[in-house]
Amino acid sequence: MARIIAGIGSSHVPAIGAALDNNKTEEPYWKRVFSGFEKSQEWMRQTKPDVAIVVYNDHASAFSVEMIPTFALGCAAEFPPADEGWGPRPVPVVQGHPALASHIAQSVILDEFDLTVCNKMEVDHGMTVPMNLLFGKIPKEGHWPCPVIPLAVNVVMYPPPTGHRCFMLGRALKKAVESYPDDLRVVIFGTGGLSHQISGPRAGLINSKWDKAFLDNLSSHPEKLVKIPHIDYMREAGAEGIEMVMWLIMRGALDDKVDEVYRFYTVPASNTAVGHIILANRAKASKRKPAVKHKRAAAQTKVERIRS
Ligand code: DHB
Ligand code: FE
Repeated sequence: MARIIAGIGSSHVPAIGAALDNNKTEEPYWKRVFSGFEKSQEWMRQTKPDVAIVVYNDHASAFSVEMIPTFALGCAAEFPPADEGWGPRPVPVVQGHPALASHIAQSVILDEFDLTVCNKMEVDHGMTVPMNLLFGKIPKEGHWPCPVIPLAVNVVMYPPPTGHRCFMLGRALKKAVESYPDDLRVVIFGTGGLSHQISGPRAGLINSKWDKAFLDNLSSHPEKLVKIPHIDYMREAGAEGIEMVMWLIMRGALDDKVDEVYRFYTVPASNTAVGHIILANRAKASKRKPAVKHKRAAAQTKVERIRS
């Protein structure tokens, strides 16, 4: 059976991608941001997931105002990079997992979440920047370490989905993954945010108090977050802060109780607060085999080691 083992929340600021692509990671401004992901990259190297589901938003690269799917699942064999602003990033083509993706589409749609199925799709910084932050820099002709299933969420044009709907979609994704017969260890990314507003009189808005409370509740009390209406995200976290609902898909796909493996927060990067969290499902205890308990203890030791 496939299983989601951990969730990763990460900002997707396009300027982070440009800093990486233009070798500026050692500049003090960017070093502060990238150094916060060194432990995460180490965790990812140790975890070695078989597949990643990346929940992200497209920024008018694959979709435009002509077509606005609320939830779009990438079922293709590969996803070439595209981008607005700086142009397509020099990153490898993302390899998909069509078998698991089609299984998820079937399971989730029969569970009454009407996904758009994308058999051809380009992916922008919303997806590749968080992937670089966790997997490190990879040359264009290289390979990402595992196949990726993109899940694009509309948080750009009104009306975006509610936080509650996102969380429930996460629940449906969990059920879908757990009904896939192959033994795959899956991680799920929730990307975007944290607080930011990039235009209008409040451009530059960052609300660290809100962001920190969001990260705290994401770990232990996600039920509080699912009740937050759009207008509160707009008021408190800025117009683009609405991207944070995507983190609730990731959280919904995890167990109720999780271990917080790592957290990082810095202000600012470009116009946003950079937030990052790794939440791990607890290893399932087995009634019959006490040996599993040792495995869990070992996993927790690893968790403690990596916590900053
Ligand atoms: C910025 C942040 C975003 O999330 C985005 O999609 C575009 C720009 C920024 O901080 O400039
Ligand atoms: Fe964005």
